[in-house]
Amino acid sequence: MRAELDKIRQEATAALNSATDLAALEQVSIKYLSRKGAVAGLFKLLGQASAEDRPAFGQALNDLKAELEALEAARKIALTPKSKGSSIDTTLPGRAQWIGSYHPLTLVMREITDIFGSMGFRVADGPEIELVKYNFDMLNTPAWHPSRDESDTIYLPNGFVVRTETSPVQVRTMEKQDPPIRIISPGRVYRRDRPDATHSPMFHQCEGLYVDKGVTMAELKGTLLSFYRALFGQQTKLRFRPHFFPFTEPSAEVDVTCPFCKGEGCRICKNTGWLEMGGCGMVDPNVLAGVGYDTEIYTGFAFGLGIDRIAMLRFGIQNIRLLTDSDVRFLRQFSGITPR
Ligand code: DAH
Repeated sequence: MRAELDKIRQEATAALNSATDLAALEQVSIKYLSRKGAVAGLFKLLGQASAEDRPAFGQALNDLKAELEALEAARKIALTPKSKGSSIDTTLPGRAQWIGSYHPLTLVMREITDIFGSMGFRVADGPEIELVKYNFDMLNTPAWHPSRDESDTIYLPNGFVVRTETSPVQVRTMEKQDPPIRIISPGRVYRRDRPDATHSPMFHQCEGLYVDKGVTMAELKGTLLSFYRALFGQQTKLRFRPHFFPFTEPSAEVDVTCPFCKGEGCRICKNTGWLEMGGCGMVDPNVLAGVGYDTEIYTGFAFGLGIDRIAMLRFGIQNIRLLTDSDVRFLRQFSGITPR
C-alpha cells in the first residue's frame, strides 16, 4: 500500500508540474484529486489495512492529499494569466498624455482671419507654384524691378515661379469676380533669403484686397487701424511711410506703435517705439485695367502683412526658425491655447 501511495505521489506531482495551461491542470486535478480520482481510490484501501497500520496509513494519505492540493493551488496561480488590474503599479508616477496643440502660426492666422472676417473680408486661396504672369506681370511689376532678380526669386521651368508674395491672389480673384471684392489671403511665400533669426526662405504673408466704387485711402488706414487695435490693443497707433510697390499707387509702409513699450522705446522696437508690419496702398489702375475693371468706376486698396512677425511678437519667439523646425519641445508650449 505504501508502494502504491508513493507511485501516485510521483505520478501526480509530475503531472501537476508538467501541465502547461489551466485546462491541462484541470484534467490532472480530475484524475488525481477529484472525488473519484486516484487519491480518493487510496482512501478506499484504508479499510483493508490492519487495525494497527490504519492510523499511520491514514495520516500518510491525508498528508499526500494536502501536499498535492497545495501543489495544485500553486500551479493554478502560476498558470493564471495576469489580470490587467493586478499588473498596475499604482505607486508609479502617471505617464504624461500630450494631446497636441495648435501651431503658433495657425493661432495667429485664425486670429487674423477672424478679425478681418468680422469686417466682411472672406478668405481666398491661390497656388504656391505661380505663373510669372500673376506673380509679376499682372501686378504691374516692371521688367527692371529688383524683385524679379534670380537672386531674389526662385524660378521654375515653363514660366513658373515659387510665389514670392501673396499678391498674385489679388489678380486671380479679380479675374474670376466682379467688384465688390473684399478678400484676405494668408499663405506661404518663398524668397532666396539668407536665413537668420528673422529671415527664412519660406515665410508667411496675408494679402488683403478691397475693390468697389469709391474706395479711399482713408478706408485703408481705418481698416488697418481697426485690425491692429484688435490684434495688439486699443492704444495702438498707426503710421504710414511713403514707399513704392509696383501694384499700388500711392504706396506706404505700415508701422504700429510697439505693443511692448507702448511707443516709449524698448529692445524689441530697437528704441524707435514703432514696429514695421507690412506694405499697402491704393491698387494701381494698371492692375485694375489688367483684369478688365473700369478704372473710372472702381478703386481699391491692398495690403500685405507678415504673419511670422506677428506670431513672433505675440508669443515672444526670438528665432523664426523655431516656426518650421518641428521641435516638439517648442510646440508643446502652445498646448492648451485655442484659436479665438
Ligand atoms: N507684396 C508685398 C511684399 O511682399 C507686400 C504688399 C505691399 C502687398 C503692398 C500689397 C500691397 O498688397 O498693397 O513686399
